[in-house]
Amino acid sequence: MSADPIRGHSYDGIEEFDNRLPNWWLWTFYLACIFSVGYWLFHHTVGTGDQPIEAYAIEQKVASERMAAQAANNPITEEMLLKLSKEPSFVAEGKKLFEDASKCALCHGPAANGTTAMKTPAIGPNLTDDHWIYGSKPMDVYTTILKGRVMPDPQRKSMGGMQSWEMFGADFVLKTTAFVLSVKNTNVPGGKAPETYAVKEP
Ligand code: HEC
Repeated sequence: MSADPIRGHSYDGIEEFDNRLPNWWLWTFYLACIFSVGYWLFHHTVGTGDQPIEAYAIEQKVASERMAAQAANNPITEEMLLKLSKEPSFVAEGKKLFEDASKCALCHGPAANGTTAMKTPAIGPNLTDDHWIYGSKPMDVYTTILKGRVMPDPQRKSMGGMQSWEMFGADFVLKTTAFVLSVKNTNVPGGKAPETYAVKEP
């Protein structure tokens, strides 16, 4: 039997020991307290460190500048995108990125046909049919993925909700664009019906 003292209460016959907390545990607590004072001074009082929103804005700016510099060296054109969409290994890499459950597949389904892995309609539209909201030309698709279509568009009566993927870098945007161009008009079976505001394209 343990000689540890027992606290003086009993709930439904269950009692509690009054053990001392282990030192290693207490030290994680003390160190967290000491760290928080430093963190608070650095980020909130003296203002030396950036707030999360500012840090994010700076990272976004750096990424945009990096992409602009890359684009200046190697301009994105309709022909170049079309060519990439016909390169099997490039498209295969785009497919892999697309199928990541936390990225495109989350809203367009793993087969890009607007149907989730559970066979329910996804949030985003079918990308394998011939109906498009923002256009299916290579530059249209590229711009949609690069910049997103975040705001509802009253003229198209579209919903918005497609985020920008610019922060994932030029490589990511080009590969996923190539993949989408490669599946458009392939009518993957079990696809979601076109959005009412999408337009049939030749
Ligand atoms: C959070 C959900 C979400 C994710 C993740 C997402 N999308 Fe979208 N996407 C949407 C929605 C919603 C629309 C339609 C917007 C509208 O109706 O205005 C859309 C539209 C599009 C369109 C335009 C379709 C058209 O008919 O013009 C393309 C292309 C597209 N997404 C590709 C992608 C790719 C590639 C990825 C991954 C890099 C991706 N999406 C990730 C929600 C998402």
